[in-house]
Amino acid sequence: MPGMDDPPVIRLPDPCLVVLVGPAGSGKSTFAARHFAPHEVLSSDAYRERIGGDAADQRTTRPAFAALHAALRRRLAARRLTVVDATSVTHRARSALLRDANAAGIPAVAIVLDLPADLVRARNAGRPRVVPEDAVRAQLAHLERSQDGAGLRGEGFSAVIRLRVPGAVEAVRVERVASAEPWRADG
Ligand code: CTP
Ligand code: MG
Repeated sequence: MPGMDDPPVIRLPDPCLVVLVGPAGSGKSTFAARHFAPHEVLSSDAYRERIGGDAADQRTTRPAFAALHAALRRRLAARRLTVVDATSVTHRARSALLRDANAAGIPAVAIVLDLPADLVRARNAGRPRVVPEDAVRAQLAHLERSQDGAGLRGEGFSAVIRLRVPGAVEAVRVERVASAEPWRADG
């Protein structure tokens, strides 16, 4: 069952940048595939695979993210709703994405898959490609720190949706609201 605070509907301004936030195993790619068309989703793993032949090869992180950001900037300049499927658990990763959105005058929405740590670890362990446990632990810690103070909202996201239980992730619907007006971060 969804928790009391979990939203039943996510209303996205269209266009917008959707930043999925969550550790490995939290279900970002599953969520993206369920609610968005494949061409709307830019996945860091897909770029790693394209560049280095292996989605798990961390050595390709830099070129993979360079390519992801280039594609993101092109899509946002064309005012296309775009989803970034990467962990985005660090402030640094999110601020790079927010810069692209702000430069294009497109609002950014964060959808945080903030699920119980045990569940995330169990899902990760049960996958064909297991992310090292210490990496997941670090991602969970980053995510927790991200919620301090003003949290993601204070970073410049126009909306932050936090889903805290699997039932909420399961039940949530995504709607799009057409928006013709250019968006300004300070407006
Ligand atoms: N999973 C699940 N139920 C969900 C969502 C995901 O059982 N509602 C399972 C998936 O089948 C998968 C694992 O949990 O085996 C992780 O889901 P995935 O979407 O791949 O997680 P990501 O957050 O995309 O992980 P990564 O950052 O490593 O890509
Ligand atoms: Mg994934």
